[in-house]
Amino acid sequence: MSQIDFTKTLSAGFGAYNRTVGQWWVDQTRNKAHVAAYTNIASHVVRCAKKDRGLIIDYGCGTGLIMKRLVDALPGWTFLGIDGSKVMLRDAEIWARAKRKQRPAAIEFRCATLPDFSAPAEKADMIVFTFPNIVSVASGRCPFQKLFPNDRDLARLLAKKQEKGKKAEELFDQLFMSRVVSRNLRLLLRKGGLCVRVDYCQGDRHELGGFDQLSTLFEEGSLNTKQAHLRPHKFFKLLSSQYYESAVILDVYEQTKDKDFLEGGYLVSLLQAV
Ligand SMILES: C[S@@+](CC[C@H](N)C(=O)[O-])C[C@H]1O[C@@H](n2cnc3c(N)ncnc32)[C@H](O)[C@@H]1O
Repeated sequence: MSQIDFTKTLSAGFGAYNRTVGQWWVDQTRNKAHVAAYTNIASHVVRCAKKDRGLIIDYGCGTGLIMKRLVDALPGWTFLGIDGSKVMLRDAEIWARAKRKQRPAAIEFRCATLPDFSAPAEKADMIVFTFPNIVSVASGRCPFQKLFPNDRDLARLLAKKQEKGKKAEELFDQLFMSRVVSRNLRLLLRKGGLCVRVDYCQGDRHELGGFDQLSTLFEEGSLNTKQAHLRPHKFFKLLSSQYYESAVILDVYEQTKDKDFLEGGYLVSLLQAV
């Protein structure tokens, strides 16, 4: 069990992925559960890639472990990994250097703070977003509240319905920023493009409680049913989702020390940009 105080360490921003949290994550990705999960997720992506060529973005790619499994299976496809951690990207660059020599299409990485709406829309054919933990600080979240007021109001409404006081504020931040990240994913895709997202989960969608089902749809951008007087804008269509029981859920337990996360797995959702 890790001795890192994740709440405290990550409250300063994602820079911790260049230090203690980054090292912890790299160790986690080497365990049996993660190795099996990456292989499984990569096979989902390959099944979705119907063409011979195109652009795949790995959003918050870390050391690029999904890309690493995809570059051989999809030799004609161009890959772009985006992450804020220079240390993670340095590791990714090591395996990519060897792979580039053996394939015609590019493998590139970009260091950026996410979500990033300043970059030109990539018009990617596919985007992969696995085991997300996009960290934000209060000063970074503020501008997005002005940019997306309807999302802000909906996130507040949903959070207040579920929690009170400080917990409602924390839930609001989580719901709102997840939604903003999903908007960023949508921006990077062409219309009709596919997003394969992999979230830690405690069961299949239909097994989740009412609020968890609703908040998942809101966060990923596939909800369009009116909440009180507000209607969310639907920018992704949910095509399918599949739950896998896996010890990867222990990542969440280690970070939160919440025993509810001693069991669970991950959900692979396929979303289409509308
Ligand atoms: C839990 S790791 C997942 C990495 C990768 N997707 C995988 O499945 O192995 C989260 C990644 O998100 C990156 N990250 C977290 N917050 C970020 C932010 N605000 N901007 C850019 N990258 C961020 C971290 O550097 C880290 O590589």
